[in-house]
Amino acid sequence: MLEGKQIVLGVTGGIAVYKAVELLRLCVKAGAEVHVVMTEHAREFVTPLTFQTLSGNPVQTDLFNLYQEKEIGHISLAERADLFIVAPATANIIGKVACGIADDLLSTTLMATRAPSLFVPAMNVNMWENSVFQTNLKKLEERGCLVMEPETGALACGYVGKGKFPDPEKIFANVLKVFQARDLEGERIIVTAGPTVEKIDPVRYLSNFSSGKMGYAIAAAALERGAEVVLVSGPTALKRPQGAKFRPVTSAKEMFEVVLEQLPEATVVIKAAAVADFRPVIFHDRKLKKGDEEKWVVELERTPDILAALGKAKDHRILVGFAAETENLVENARRKLANKNLDMVVANDVTQPGAGFGGDTNLVTFLFPDRAPVALPCLSKEVVAHRLLDQIVDIRRSREKGASGC
Ligand code: PMT
Repeated sequence: MLEGKQIVLGVTGGIAVYKAVELLRLCVKAGAEVHVVMTEHAREFVTPLTFQTLSGNPVQTDLFNLYQEKEIGHISLAERADLFIVAPATANIIGKVACGIADDLLSTTLMATRAPSLFVPAMNVNMWENSVFQTNLKKLEERGCLVMEPETGALACGYVGKGKFPDPEKIFANVLKVFQARDLEGERIIVTAGPTVEKIDPVRYLSNFSSGKMGYAIAAAALERGAEVVLVSGPTALKRPQGAKFRPVTSAKEMFEVVLEQLPEATVVIKAAAVADFRPVIFHDRKLKKGDEEKWVVELERTPDILAALGKAKDHRILVGFAAETENLVENARRKLANKNLDMVVANDVTQPGAGFGGDTNLVTFLFPDRAPVALPCLSKEVVAHRLLDQIVDIRRSREKGASGC
């Protein structure tokens, strides 16, 4: 994903320094060459040796160190960066950069770089809310620096509030965004997300635990990569991604109708929604009154199988289904791949920690009719979304290659 990319990771002094180690690991694993610059205070928390071992490069610490200057030099470090990340970024480094102060290696290198910069502030909530700090932060944003807002929660200093260093996976997802090619330009992608709701009466329904996070992450990632996106969503509490054509639905039948209506224009369909397989045969338009009965039977009937219908009408489109399984993951997912005429199935064993419904991560294996499976570790849904889209780009390229005979 990041092969050939040069990243400079600036690390300043805060308790979150240890989490920057994980960010470094993710960048290196994705193929980036990472050079770490640590401030004096950062070195109080984690030693340079940790960053050096994981990056495979000497850690830069001093502005006036003859050996380090000879090896790489702050100007050449600034010039060679494709991306400059400062994580964690203290109020001090943000203040320095905002005001043009260059008095150590990191602030000097930051002043000399023309690369995009991503700042990940982490600090005490009162410092975060301080108006001078907020003015400095705004200056950075106005100059085009990317700033990732900290999270709210229990802070290392004992306070509760905004200032928490985000999960390294989330930062990494933003790193990917910076490098993201617009490799889905020209694609029109239908993404389905969330649960469906099958009403029994005006106050009761059948549904499932889907939050919509997986599907919304796919829609957002596809938009970033230049696709036109139609997001067909069951009821969720999520903010709709900006730029997507949004089609809210409730039941499986409605989802079926909207997806088929949108299909003629689509080049790709990704079905991340958790669609109810059954719905009540009768919808009662008045609330059902309970009597003395001990048991109550609701007769159910099958909902339309949207994916199977898409498989039949697929034509040249790329069709991706999900499989939420609780046993025999690969076997069951392979059956769906074949029976529904899919180009790819995303199999998630929803019994595994970190996988499936509701959470911010997923643990998936991609299966294809004609290529080797790709099993991913537990990753944020944003990263899973990008990995899935990488596969779509790959399928598209192989088809184009096949068509041109090269
Ligand atoms: O929404 P989140 O909380 O982020 O959770 C993500 C997720 C677990 C919902 C997602 O990763 C996932 O697995 N989605 C598919 C869930 C599902 O319904 O799996 P299934 O194995 O029952 O269905 C297989 C495929 O057929 C799915 O692509 C589904 O959209 C589709 N289907 C199912 C029934 C039906 N009537 N029509 C369909 O199109």
